This record gives sequence, structure tokens and C-alpha cells, in this order.
Amino acid sequence: MKYRSVKGVKDILPADTPKWQWVERAAHRIFSRYGFNEIRIPIFEYTDLFTRGIGETTDIVDKEMYTFKDKSGDMLSLRPEGTASAVRAFIEHKMSNAGAVTKMYYTGPMFRYERPQAGRFRQFYQIGVESMGSASPAIDAEVMTMLMEFFKELGLEDLELQLNSLGCRNCRPKYRETLKEAIKEHLNKLCANCCDRYERNPLRVLDCKVPQDQEIAQGLPKTVDHLCPSCREDFAEVQDLLKGVDARFSLNDRLVRGLDYYTKTTFEVTAQGLGSQDAICGGGRYDSLVAEFGGPDTPCFGFALGMERLVSVVPFDKLKGVESRPDLFIVSLGETAAKASFRISHTLRSSGISVDRSYDGGSMKSQMRKANKSACRFALIVGENELATGRLILKDMEKGEQFEVAVGPLTAEIKKHLK
Ligand code: HAM
Repeated sequence: MKYRSVKGVKDILPADTPKWQWVERAAHRIFSRYGFNEIRIPIFEYTDLFTRGIGETTDIVDKEMYTFKDKSGDMLSLRPEGTASAVRAFIEHKMSNAGAVTKMYYTGPMFRYERPQAGRFRQFYQIGVESMGSASPAIDAEVMTMLMEFFKELGLEDLELQLNSLGCRNCRPKYRETLKEAIKEHLNKLCANCCDRYERNPLRVLDCKVPQDQEIAQGLPKTVDHLCPSCREDFAEVQDLLKGVDARFSLNDRLVRGLDYYTKTTFEVTAQGLGSQDAICGGGRYDSLVAEFGGPDTPCFGFALGMERLVSVVPFDKLKGVESRPDLFIVSLGETAAKASFRISHTLRSSGISVDRSYDGGSMKSQMRKANKSACRFALIVGENELATGRLILKDMEKGEQFEVAVGPLTAEIKKHLK
């Protein structure tokens, strides 16, 4: 075949989209209970927005952005994540609302030039949530609780929520220096990547995946031991609130996240059975980003979850209403019946019944095979004889029973059976 999809980019096929839509519907349902409304942000932005927002020294900005010059010479990038855009929109549309929290969420594709592997793509989908305008630890706890409620709705109860705190603009710089001092003596043993990070982004040494570096990281100072009193109190409060709703979590002092904007609480949710790409969700507090972008001082908290990874662990066979199957499949025998079927399907669909049908004739047996394949609840058999007598045959595909239904009140009759 001449054309193939781009490496690391995949189609989501009609057989799978019902699952995706089910998950998205659950997100709309649960998030709206907590006062979140959807925002639709652009697929591309000025490159600067991401460079400044996510951080120049991060892998995402340094190596993974899809950046191009458009015909007017502007440098643009496909969005690698949604937070920077949400913050830009918040400032641009003056969404700051004194005393109230602005709550929004988004869904859609993100783009990162990463090495493709199981669970890691170059175009992947996220559902992201951003809460802007409160520094209260109650927001951290509430948003994470909402996330766990969402997972519960999806039948996922054994996920692991890992928490850490990265400190704020008061305590982080001091911690950073302490950490650098401690890393210094190990520099000759660390991987090349970590040596590079030592100057630019020393916190990332803590979550290096190279086994020897992990051993060294174990002995390095932890953020949680260097928090200022206010960060320490807030982190304890977040944990208390989570315990108050019986949310299970564990502390992970190596969790630093790969984006620079985080302050205070950070978290990740991992799932079993996903191999090395086991993070289905990540997020945390980012209290300085709005101000850094020129907006009013606005503490924020948010997360994003990866749809491909999430969909791959949801137990869809245990959930109701996931499959999209037609209510009815029309089997027509003969040319007159085929014409009548066109009219009948139009009338039924107009009244809200979902209908599939056989378009190319064929024997009763072959059409019933198609009906079976469509997973319809009922098959409606329209033959010349049935049309002549005005009584069609309705077959319940699950029970195997069949009934006669009159052509006149057909819609009402079928609706009665569908109940
Ligand atoms: P992130 O950790 O970069 O955070 O991405 C969130 C989730 O997106 C990950 O946990 C993972 O499930 C999924 N993901 C990331 N990269 C890939 C990939 N290449 N292929 C498949 N899935 C992937 C953020 O994006 C932040 N904006 C989250 C946030 C929102 N923080 C505050 N507000």
C-alpha cells in the first residue's frame, strides 16, 4: 500500500470509538458535578507560549515539539499539552473572577515527537482539567477526588495515586541549591542526561530511569524535607482531606514531573499492566504560571489524563451502554420490499429509532447473517407477502422469538418492543 499513517500516530477506528465516547461522556457527567465547563482550545499556538510555559529545559520543549513557520513567518507549534493554552485563554478572555474559581476542562489531541512504543505516541489524546483562582489545599484534594470518582465510574478502583510536594517560589530555590550541592559529588557516576540536567533542571535527576542513577537518587535530599512551613502545612492538609473521603494514595518523593510550571502538590496516577508507560494521569499545582504570562496572580491546580492508556485499562465488558448497536436491522426480500424498506427506515429513524439495513438484497439467510453481525436488538423482515398483508415480521435477536407487527402503527409497535 502506498500511504500509511505517520509513525507514532494512529487511527481510532469506528469499532473503538464507542469506548472513547463512553469515557468522554463519563468525564462530562462527573466533571460538571464539580462545576467544570468545557473549553475548546486551538491545536496550535505561537511557539513562545509553550517554550515559556512548559520550560525551555524540559524534554518537551527541548526535543519534542512539532514547530513550523507559517506563510507569514510566525513560529507556531502543535500543542504538546493543554495547560499553557488554557492559561493563555484565561488571561486573554479576562476569565479571572474575583473570589470565584474558574473551572474548565478540555479534550483532544496533543503532539510530542517522542520515541514511539507501547502506550507512547506522537499524537495522543488527553482529557485535561484546570482549576484557576484558589490556593486552598481543598482544591487540590477536591480535583483529585473528582478524578478518582471518574475512575470509579469507569470501573477502575485499583489505581495508584502518588503524591509529592515540590515547594513554592520561597522554598524551592533553596532546595534546588541543596540538591545541586548533593548531586555534585556524584556527577562522574550519573548518566550524560543527568549531568546535563544538573545545571539546567537538577530536580529531574530525581526521576531518572537509569538504574544506577536511581540508586544515587535514593540518597539525595527530598523536596518534602525542605518545604517552608506554609507548603508543609498545605501538603499535610491535602493528605488529611483525601483521608477524610477514604481516598487511597501513597507518597512518592521522587515524583517531580516533566514540566517546569509545577509548585507544591504534584501527583500521578499509575495503572498496572501498562509496562513502562504506566502513568495514565499527571498533574498538580502551578501557582505562578498565570502571573508569568502577564495575568493577575492566580494560583491554579490541574491534571491531564492520557486517553489511549486509560481506554486500554477500562473494563468495558463490565460497563453498561458502551457498545453502539442498532435497535433494528431491516431485511428486505425483493425489489418492491427494498424500496419500501428505504421509506420505512426513514420513518423509523425520524422517530428516534436507530436502524441499519441490507442495501444489496441477497437471500434471507445472508441478510440475517448481516443482521446478526450488526448486533441489532430486532430484525424487521419486509417481504412482498408481508407488504401485501400489511403485517411485517419482527424478530427479537436475543430471545429468538418473532411477532407480527402492523405496517400502520409500525413506529409505535416497535417502540413498545424496544422498551
Ligand atoms: P503530562 O504528564 O505530560 O502532563 O501528560 C499527562 C498524561 O498524558 C500522561 O500521564 C500520559 O497518560 C499522557 N501522555 C503524555 N505523553 C504521552 C504520549 N507521548 N503518548 C501517550 N500518552 C501520553 C501534562 O500534559 C500537563 N499539562 C497536565 C496538567 C494539567 N498539569 C496541570 N494541569
